[in-house]
Order: sequence, then structure tokens, then C-alpha cells
Amino acid sequence: MAAARASAPGKVILFGEHAVVYGEPAIAVALSLRTEVIVKEGGDQHRVNGAPLSPYHHAYIKDAIDGLWKGGPLDVRTDSRIPSASGLGSSAALSVATVGALLQLQGRFAEELVAREAYNAEVSAQKGRGSPTDTSTASHGHAVLVDGQKRDGLLWDVQRGERRWYLHHLDVPPLTLVVGHTGVRGRTADEVAKVARFVKRTGFAREVIRDLGRVARSAIPLLARQDKPALGQRMDEAHNLLRILGVSHPRLDELCDAARKHAYGAKLTGSGGGGSMIALTDQPEACAAAIRKRGGTPFTVQLGGPGVSASSW
Ligand code: PMV
Repeated sequence: MAAARASAPGKVILFGEHAVVYGEPAIAVALSLRTEVIVKEGGDQHRVNGAPLSPYHHAYIKDAIDGLWKGGPLDVRTDSRIPSASGLGSSAALSVATVGALLQLQGRFAEELVAREAYNAEVSAQKGRGSPTDTSTASHGHAVLVDGQKRDGLLWDVQRGERRWYLHHLDVPPLTLVVGHTGVRGRTADEVAKVARFVKRTGFAREVIRDLGRVARSAIPLLARQDKPALGQRMDEAHNLLRILGVSHPRLDELCDAARKHAYGAKLTGSGGGGSMIALTDQPEACAAAIRKRGGTPFTVQLGGPGVSASSW
């Protein structure tokens, strides 16, 4: 019986969450935390970690299998170091690793194809959510600049409805971030839908989206120069704009305030409404302690690292 394994990294969004859904740029960076998926042919029905495949519990895996697999039953095993519902890209890493393992099993594994198929699987599992940021970052690794227009370092482009996103490679500086998880479950689809209602109704919300894009754009040269004070200031600015957009949470604001005493800047990361914040710091221990003192769960991460990898036997 054939078997394949694939592994994919989690990510943080440094700048541009939510605005990227409307064609503004976003910068996402892969993490050293990864998810591994093993698929083996065999058995009487599809199973995930020993239990029958459930459309409710295993939506991402089911949508990947439905989209890519015409063969017999599969035994799927998952192992993730990425905390779930934390804004660290655990669902995208699971989609990417599952798609990677399925394509490897068919002898069709390639980074770009994994990114495309994983995005399709995520869109269908999340009932039409936003951008290909997470799935492309989990596929490519390193850092990815997502933009509504083509720039240097183009990897691929993805179209959905009227939107087209261009995904680019960015070099990642060796930065340390402290992530603070609020313990509050943020639901990406709900937050994206909330912003969509706001954007539809008011020109003000569209202006905030444009401001978020401006902040993300201004961060690109700062990242290349590793200008941490200026990057931190942009992070604070982005957090305020996201707060105005209605996607922060009192716990996120508190953890950002606590972290800022030991950091260049701090902001929520990902869809918000709970989930996690990130702080850019040279004092990870002090920053983590401040987050813990305010009831958050901190962990220190190094930015960068490889994208999806696969093997079979
Ligand atoms: O919560 P996350 O890490 O899945 O990030 C969502 C990012 C959004 O911009 C809010 C939505 C998207 O698909 O880009």
C-alpha cells in the first residue's frame, strides 16, 4: 500500500490582514512550528487519527480529499505543533500538508499546485472566506507578499470571483516575535463577514482599509533594512486601524499594551476577534512574562523557514 508524508509551516501575518481581502498588500511570514500529515491507502473507509472521517471535525481534510482523491479509503494521521484557532495558520498548514501528501501519493507534488489546491480546499471548508495568504505562505515558506498588483519576486497569482491576488517571495530578516494567545476563540469567517458588512455600508471603513494598505506598503523597505523601531511603530498603527475596523478584542488590546513596555510595537495578527497578538522585541523573556501576567499564553518564534515538503514510501 502506498503512503506519503507532507509537512507545512504555520504563519503570522505581520501586516495587511483584512485589507488584503480588498486587494491591499499583506506580508505573511512562515514559522518554525509545523503540521505533519501522513496518508496511507487501505482500510474500509476514510479515517483520521483512527476515527471515521467526519465532515464536521475534519472539514479541511475532507475538502482536500474530495477535491483531489478518486481512489479507495485513506488512513490519515495528523501531528501539529501549531496551536489551533490562534491566528497562527493551523488550518492552512493542515490543508497544505494534506494536499501535499495527496499530491505526493499521486506523483504530482509541486509547491505551486499545493498552494492552489489547498486554497480551493480552504475556500470550500470555510464557505467562501478571503484571500490565499495563509495557504500560499504555508506552501512557500519564508515570507510572502500578497498584493493586488504584480511586483518583483512573483511566485504565482490566484483568482477568485473578481479578485486576483499576486503572491511574491520576500526575504525574511532574522526577527524574533513574541506571540500572545488570548485564549479567546476568534472565527476568521465571522470577522471577515463583519468587515465586509462595514465596508459595504461606509466609505469610512474603505478608508481604513486603504490606510492598512499604506501601512503594509511602508513596512516592506523597513523589513529589508531591519528597522525595528520604525516597524514597531507601524505595528502599533496597524493595530489601531484594525481596532477601528472592529476586529480587535479587549483581551487583544490588553496584551498589546502589556507587551509594548518591552517591545518596539505590537498588534493583533490574523483575523482577530480573539486569537493572538504579536510583539516585535529584543527582550522576548520580559515581553513573554508581561503577556503571561495579563493572562495570555506567550510563545517566542523565529521568523522564516521552509515551506511545504513531502516524501513517500
Ligand atoms: O486568522 P487567520 O490567520 O486565518 O488570517 C485571516 C486573514 C484575513 O485577512 C482576515 C482573511 C484572509 O483570508 O486574508
